Amino acid sequence: MVTTVGTESSLNSLVEDLLLLEHDAIAAYDATIERLENASWKQQVSSFKSDHLRHVQELTQLASSIGANAPKQGDAKQMLTTGKIAIGGLLGDKTILSAMKTNEDDTVTAYERASRHEDATGEARTIFQRAHADELRHREWMSTTANS
Ligand SMILES: [Fe+2]
Ligand SMILES: [Fe+2]
Repeated sequence: MVTTVGTESSLNSLVEDLLLLEHDAIAAYDATIERLENASWKQQVSSFKSDHLRHVQELTQLASSIGANAPKQGDAKQMLTTGKIAIGGLLGDKTILSAMKTNEDDTVTAYERASRHEDATGEARTIFQRAHADELRHREWMSTTANS
């Protein structure tokens, strides 16, 4: 299912959902890093994971400055197309990376919408745009590598 994150009517609920999405993404990254056999791919994916950790940090700060909740982990809502459990059941590095590409589609879409959200403050927009650029870079690599 394609993500609905980014369609929230208020900035507070947008930031909250982005955090839930990020926590799910990080869990999927952990499952991926654990399963990949190619050492240099594992390393590349770990460096993308650190971008996500930075996104969580920035969103958490933003949440506190606007008075939004800042979830510290995912909840029952499944925010990603291919969550950590699904990733954990896949075999083969390229299969895993093409599943991760569907998750990058979700995060790209979410931050693209967030960047255009009419209630976004200047600070929020800067965070969303930078995260969007990171997710585009992740997606490009997942896609190129899965199809290599
Ligand atoms: Fe992220
Ligand atoms: Fe990503």
